[in-house]
Amino acid sequence: MKHQILFKLQETDGFVSGGKLSKEFGLSRTAIWKHIHSLISDGYEIESVTNKGYRLISSPDIINYDEIKDELETKIIGRSIYHYKTIDSTNRKAKEIASKVDEGTIVVAEEQTSGRGRLGRNWNSKMTKGIYTSIIVKPETEPDKVAKLTLLAAAAVYQALKDIGVESKIKWPNDVLVNGKKVSGILTEMNCELGIINYIVLGIGINVNHNLEDIPEDIREKATSLKIEVGQQIDRKHLFSRLLNHLDELYIPFETTGDFESALDICRDNSAVIGEDIMVIQGNKTREGRAIGINHNGELMVHFAEGLEPVLSGEVSIRKKDRYI
Ligand code: BTN
Repeated sequence: MKHQILFKLQETDGFVSGGKLSKEFGLSRTAIWKHIHSLISDGYEIESVTNKGYRLISSPDIINYDEIKDELETKIIGRSIYHYKTIDSTNRKAKEIASKVDEGTIVVAEEQTSGRGRLGRNWNSKMTKGIYTSIIVKPETEPDKVAKLTLLAAAAVYQALKDIGVESKIKWPNDVLVNGKKVSGILTEMNCELGIINYIVLGIGINVNHNLEDIPEDIREKATSLKIEVGQQIDRKHLFSRLLNHLDELYIPFETTGDFESALDICRDNSAVIGEDIMVIQGNKTREGRAIGINHNGELMVHFAEGLEPVLSGEVSIRKKDRYI
């Protein structure tokens, strides 16, 4: 009910009377007032004037369904949105609920207390500074095709950033860089049995409105935020809905026919690694080579001393002058 009242206030230019609200929703004026109060404690600024009613003045900087629905144009992604103010990790929560919910369900939080990155690292997830979300998908594909979904998510991040006027590069397979520094990372986790995928969780983190002091000092050389790079506050709601729209657009062909050509093109055309000397880290093995392209499976084609080889997964560092970053 609170959401319906909010929706009414959002679509009304001016005041809505308490009487109108109580009639429309079949509630007493006291019940309406309680919902208004609850919205105020959620961070909505609502003016209340005797004989006029209620007027929405401003909305909080939160990225829940109520705040992004007007811009959401998806068919699958975001069908259902679990929003948390604080959670340990959206990927952990997504895995907990994945088998009980529909494909396309997403978990999103304003803050993560144990945000997880790849290789057991932490993901810095300060309150309302970034976008921390996990998308549950259940494609009918073989587990060895899952790496393609990481590229698909990276391509969607690239496109969402482009929509807000930020040029970025995709560092195969799971990072997005702005001015050579990481602003976004993807953590893909899968659950499968006997060659059948039960679900995949695409965890996406984007550093949006972090100030320099919000980025831990030891990673400032490699990591940044959109606000630091463009010099102004970014509208997280707009960016988040653009991200979900692009994910949906790229995921539907993949889910229906396995087609991921558009994502592949985006990753190839905006690659931070193709043409670069790189170091590939796989487990405790590191090898140097030159990245020459991404093949139709989404694998990075690398010229090693031993010859040309496809690399399906791994951590890549790019050589800059005499060191790798
Ligand atoms: C990486 O670059 O190492 C991947 C980072 C992934 C971070 C996101 S934030 C939302 C989701 N929940 C998590 O705990 N991690 C992912």
